[in-house]
Amino acid sequence: MRLILLGPPGAGKGTQAKMLKDKFGIPQISTGDILRKAIRDNTDLGFKARTFMDGGQLVPDDLVIRLIRERIRQDDCQKGFILDGFPRTIPQAEKLSETLGEMGLTLDAVVDLEIEPEEVTERLAGRSNCSQCGTMYHEVSRPPNRPGVCDLCGGELYKREDDNRETIHKRLDVYAKETAPLKEYYGSQGNLKAVKAKGTVEEIFMQVCSMVS
Ligand code: AP5
Repeated sequence: MRLILLGPPGAGKGTQAKMLKDKFGIPQISTGDILRKAIRDNTDLGFKARTFMDGGQLVPDDLVIRLIRERIRQDDCQKGFILDGFPRTIPQAEKLSETLGEMGLTLDAVVDLEIEPEEVTERLAGRSNCSQCGTMYHEVSRPPNRPGVCDLCGGELYKREDDNRETIHKRLDVYAKETAPLKEYYGSQGNLKAVKAKGTVEEIFMQVCSMVS
């Protein structure tokens, strides 16, 4: 299965992608996670991406397109993959389509997680992540048992640099301008499926699964 998860920052793309990965045994490919790792590892890509990410702007298309073109050709993607946070612009979507065409593949579905901006602002402002295993927490909907410590592995929890209110608003503006047009792009190709992303994580997961199974 080859799947794209669309939706604004905080819609729950990462949360749902991890559950789909476990259910279907295919990799979650998050451009945000790959770029954050590049920053932590002090690579050239990380150096180029950092200022854009911290400011809530998109990283230039050529950098992320190159990254995805290489990633989806890897062996673990043979049975499929879940794209989380890519594509984010029309040129990225066009290059993805071109690359899949070269590989003789097509997309199975594009799931759009629909949610109001006010809701995502609260989700993101309250989010923390485990620095060891990546498990996500939220100060209201999923607080850790001990503040600042991961329930699963004991790792230290941290907040993302871009999860402050000013940058969240910037990210939502960028989404509306650059990424929301992808709904029309994929809608006109007939493979867009909309899911209301309000409700529990499990309720949303059931809806997503019913759209893609
Ligand atoms: P990226 O890492 O992709 O971030 P994002 O799109 O802003 O999305 P988030 O990870 O913030 O949210 P999400 O939708 O995954 O929600 P989550 O499941 O975490 O990108 C970051 C930056 O990298 C970009 O700004 C850009 O600079 C760069 N970048 C990445 N890809 C790029 C590309 N293709 N091109 C150019 N630049 C790129 O959930 C959020 C919170 O809500 C969590 O706390 C979670 O526990 C909670 N939550 C989830 N579901 C629910 C629910 N149903 N009810 C209550 N709480 C919930």
